[in-house]
Amino acid sequence: MSEPVTDLSAAAGAPSGRRQILVTSALPYANGQIHIGHLVEYIQTDIWVRALRMHGHEVYYVGADDTHGTPVMLRAEQEGLTPKALIDRVWQEHKADMDAFGISFDNYYTTDSEENRVLSESVYLALKEAGLIDAREIEQAYDPVKNMFLPDRFIKGECPKCGAKDQYGDSCEVCGSTYQPTDLVNPYSVVSGATPVRKTSTHYFFRLSDPRCENFLRGWVEGLAQPEATNKMREWLGAPGEAKLADWDISRDAPYFGFEIPGAPGKYFYVWLDAPVGYYASFSNLAQRLGLDFDAWVKAGSAAEQYHFIGKDILYFHTLFWPAMLEFSGHRTPTNVFAHGFLTVDGAKMSKSRGTFITAKSYIDTGLNPEWLRYYYAAKLNSTMEDIDLSLEDFQARVNSDLVGKYINIASRAAGFLIKRFEGRVQDSAMQHPLLGTLRAAIPQIAANYEAREYSRALRHTMELADAVNAYVDGAKPWEQAKDPANAAALHETCSVSLEAFRLLSLALKPVLPGLVAGVETFLSIAPLTWADVGVPLSSQQPINAYKHLMTRVEPKQIEALLEANRSSLAPTEGSAASATAAANGGKAATSAAARPAKAGKNAPADETSDVISIDDFAKIDLRVALIVDCRTVEGSDKLLQLTLDVGEDKPRNVFSGIRSAYKPEDLVGKLTVMVANLAPRKMKFGLSEGMVLAASAADEKAEPGLYVLEPHSGAKPGMRVR
Ligand code: 2FM
Ligand code: ZN
Repeated sequence: MSEPVTDLSAAAGAPSGRRQILVTSALPYANGQIHIGHLVEYIQTDIWVRALRMHGHEVYYVGADDTHGTPVMLRAEQEGLTPKALIDRVWQEHKADMDAFGISFDNYYTTDSEENRVLSESVYLALKEAGLIDAREIEQAYDPVKNMFLPDRFIKGECPKCGAKDQYGDSCEVCGSTYQPTDLVNPYSVVSGATPVRKTSTHYFFRLSDPRCENFLRGWVEGLAQPEATNKMREWLGAPGEAKLADWDISRDAPYFGFEIPGAPGKYFYVWLDAPVGYYASFSNLAQRLGLDFDAWVKAGSAAEQYHFIGKDILYFHTLFWPAMLEFSGHRTPTNVFAHGFLTVDGAKMSKSRGTFITAKSYIDTGLNPEWLRYYYAAKLNSTMEDIDLSLEDFQARVNSDLVGKYINIASRAAGFLIKRFEGRVQDSAMQHPLLGTLRAAIPQIAANYEAREYSRALRHTMELADAVNAYVDGAKPWEQAKDPANAAALHETCSVSLEAFRLLSLALKPVLPGLVAGVETFLSIAPLTWADVGVPLSSQQPINAYKHLMTRVEPKQIEALLEANRSSLAPTEGSAASATAAANGGKAATSAAARPAKAGKNAPADETSDVISIDDFAKIDLRVALIVDCRTVEGSDKLLQLTLDVGEDKPRNVFSGIRSAYKPEDLVGKLTVMVANLAPRKMKFGLSEGMVLAASAADEKAEPGLYVLEPHSGAKPGMRVR
């Protein structure tokens, strides 16, 4: 059996009796789809919330879309929408995904709400009143074409160390060096392509460096449940007297999608100020609806508990800024912050080209059962910040063996006999069987492990119990007992013990598999299970209903379909012009920059999850005007032409292109075209191909043959950037 629960830090010290508990998950940005990285957190939080509700506590789980900021503003512009229209659409999509995965928010709201405006303003004004807001002049990069200040991630240029093109302002993806945005050579704005200029403007700062904040945080950090978080905080805080905390810039200049700062026209709250306040705004909206006393929950001195589930990458915001904002604006501070690690798929970052950047919607649309994923994640999750891996093979094996093979199997084996032979009624005396005593004794430990966020331990324990039940059934052999009417009482006992065991296992699994267990409750004809029901066995007074299959197995073809559905739509498809030119790269579909593996945390830049790419994604593709200085046929290939291209570099590039069916070499020499200059070189049978030229063709090449190499208007010069 599993080890006993040792760490119950979340429960320790909590008031006894019916607790009041407010729970949040981090708010997803409103400019992209929910993917399986986000789902680690929503599923983790939802399991916790459900486990606590099953104790009868007053639990509210609130969420919202994080709607403000520059990326949302620019995304809306790209799509030809107002930010409001974009966030409304994304809210619908996010809500549908959350519902599909059984995420039981009591309220799913938006940070672009009146409640949030009022609360953000009042927090800010209280901090100002406390002398914790400063105004300062700062110099920043400014896009003179777009007339806007540029956040660091919207500036790119050449790496000052290795010269690699199109590197972000903080670090080079090619040589790994780190630097300041001002160090970039030939910097450009990702928004307009213009060269940024330096410009001064007034910004507002939250004075985190004030000794009051530091002293408060030094005390608060000691209550954190995760030692890794406490250690991180100690590192950020430094030794007493070291004054390591820096003030936090909480304002942004227009144009910005967000809330204007009271008394500061043209200045807006930085999205990270109003995002966590959005937790309270969502709860305030719910409180109004339910008639709850909002202030009693959130003001200083509140007896309620408050927990935030987050990814480890946003710990800083939740363990420094947020508690300090709350403390000095008259609010209660979080009881705890629970951070989880990132998700990898088959041991690697999620990748569009491999199809492992899996959106929640594609998972549902492909027909996979959301509770399979809930179970798998739960089986991997514990209370630490360790990363977790979704191994697709292990996913199938574990769901099929644990859920279908061990758990569901118990009901399907027992139910038929009970219905056919015993009118669906259990034998009441069988409810005292020692095996059931073992299961009942285990339930409180399992419930405690959920509360301690040790889900993998809870499920391991549950599956050990399922093994014991299956061993009992295998020993009793009901299929043998059923052959001889003299064994009717023994058969009745076996089936009754099995079904009561199944009820107890269902109770243990309920926080993880709420949909499945709702089906079990119908099948067993019992009221919704709570932890207290551990001692309320099945009764002969209440016959069970006919057994209907409760869960199917995961089939390998479903996983294949899921990967296929998520393979980047930007990868060239067979038969398209792109595939003809990609053939020049060895017949392999070019991995577009937009299809590069993205950060696999739940906070992966949201625009990388969508079929629509951002200007930022587009800017990753280095398109150049190229002069075709030479062109030849390729011996041994009836598809390829070998092009020598001048792209304004010291040396011409050699490119093989699958356009022989459309052009004679002499037709192309001396012409200009457009090439992808930053495609990884590809070794081919005929030599190295160092790029790809662009050509157009009909979607259906068979119906409408023809390939047309792109040619810029006259005046373009080799090496010019196409954008
Ligand atoms: O990192 C993110 O995805 C943010 N949108 C999380 C915000 S959490 C909270 F502070 F609102
Ligand atoms: Zn570099």
